[in-house]
Amino acid sequence: MIRLEAINNRITLNDTVLDIGCDTALLGSMLAKRGIHSFASDIKENIVKNAYEKACNEKVNKYITFIVSDGLDNVKVNEIDTLVFAGMGTYTILKILKRTKKKFKKIITISNNNHNILRINMNSLGYSIKEEEIIKENGKYYNLIEFKPGNSKYTKEEILIGKNHQNIGLLIEKNNYLLMKYKNLYDKSDSIKELVDVIKNYKYN
Ligand SMILES: C[S@@+](CC[C@H](N)C(=O)[O-])C[C@H]1O[C@@H](n2cnc3c(N)ncnc32)[C@H](O)[C@@H]1O
Repeated sequence: MIRLEAINNRITLNDTVLDIGCDTALLGSMLAKRGIHSFASDIKENIVKNAYEKACNEKVNKYITFIVSDGLDNVKVNEIDTLVFAGMGTYTILKILKRTKKKFKKIITISNNNHNILRINMNSLGYSIKEEEIIKENGKYYNLIEFKPGNSKYTKEEILIGKNHQNIGLLIEKNNYLLMKYKNLYDKSDSIKELVDVIKNYKYN
């Protein structure tokens, strides 16, 4: 799981992590193998039950505290300083964060969609982009964004493409893929036109 390995690499021994929407709690297992205790939650009770049984089989259950919760509703947020949202949509992520007053020191997202909307709204919630990374898994591109507390004023390029990209090779590959994908759609939508123009003029450094 390249996506979850990339998140695992961004977690340090000082982070107390909650993986929201944990599904099989693969991230929790990876952290456990490094001796790191973490929290793993999912909205679905049967998913949490299965993840717990899997953790017991792998003998990592003592490293993972499982919680059934819609977002942060049943979570003791004071026990946590780092959030992970992987494989969830931008609007679900934002809905969850808008319902809490707690400020987290690190939030790592791999949202399924609308990364521009995520960047803008995270800024409004008091989180700015620390780093970004394009990940390729099974031929698909994913945007990992690590947020930190604070505000930034973003350029149009930063809102559409991101900021502080760590894997420029994959960013170029993804942008070339988007240029091909939107080749015949340029005049069909203003948002596609804007993105294509930004990609064409983008300076990689
Ligand atoms: C596509 S899976 C992603 C699993 C894993 N994080 C990954 O990236 O491989 C999304 C998970 O989010 C859970 N989920 C959806 N909405 C949620 C919410 N509001 N609170 C907690 N979990 C939620 C789903 O039940 C599902 O298990």
